[in-house]
Amino acid sequence: MRNVDLNTITAAAVSSFAGLPDARQRLLVQGLLQALHGYAKQVQLTHAEWRAGLAFLHRVGDISSDTRSEFSLLSDVSGFSSLIDMLASDPADAAVTPGSNLGPFHAGGSPWLDNPAQLIGDNAGRRVLLRGRVVDQDGRPLPQARLDFWQNAADGLYWQQDPQQPANNLRCQLHMDNDGAFAIATIRPVPYQIPLDGPVWHELVQPAGLSGWRPAHFHLIVSAPGHRTLVTELFDVEDPYLDRDAVFGVREALVGRYVTVNDPAACTLLGVSGPECLAMEVVLRLSAAD
Ligand code: BEZ
Ligand code: FE
Repeated sequence: MRNVDLNTITAAAVSSFAGLPDARQRLLVQGLLQALHGYAKQVQLTHAEWRAGLAFLHRVGDISSDTRSEFSLLSDVSGFSSLIDMLASDPADAAVTPGSNLGPFHAGGSPWLDNPAQLIGDNAGRRVLLRGRVVDQDGRPLPQARLDFWQNAADGLYWQQDPQQPANNLRCQLHMDNDGAFAIATIRPVPYQIPLDGPVWHELVQPAGLSGWRPAHFHLIVSAPGHRTLVTELFDVEDPYLDRDAVFGVREALVGRYVTVNDPAACTLLGVSGPECLAMEVVLRLSAAD
């Protein structure tokens, strides 16, 4: 390979990985090389710029740990996480609830609670009820479905970020009832900022003049036998950051509205005196597994 030049280097590099035994890995590696070489040629990348790019990735790695992935944040703010979410959902089927960011604050082992669930505890914040039904593409209830739920507290933080909160605050797992329905008595989540102490914020998002805010949301993972697992979020139509989410997670179908309901039983669940309280109602539609 002595005669490699600007015209042949890409093909040479791509074909050097032709021996990767796994066909999918081969496709991923060779496709990435093709795209990266094309990018360098397109922008006429210099040595200094490439070194600066590598140094940035070093800093992204340096601040990452078992509990903090700056690489995930980089993927989120560049729209890459949302792109992968969109590739994974079925674009042809408008009846299916779209996926959205998992985010860094999901942890396994959330406590299983009875449905309806009571998460309010000592939390400050506006008491609200999240009520939903899990159905298939044809609208049939899925009583076998399970929900993994988490959200932030009134100070904007998830329990893992905040030593003031009890362990497992504002998170749970639930089984649906016989109608495929669930209810969670909780507090209205609040907008919060992505981590502002790392290179993704200091060197990329802030210099671009972008906001680091995410609109308030609930996180949900919904699974049911024979159906694709849905990782998604639910937003609040009144949120000021809905149209400038730092991580591109908002989809029209995921925007809900809190409405005042006159439902004494629901309000009792919230510990609200009087017959009226605030509720968001959602239908979560799962597609059949492949
Ligand atoms: C979240 O939704 O929890 C989240 C997503 C991306 C970056 C930071 C937080
Ligand atoms: Fe979140």
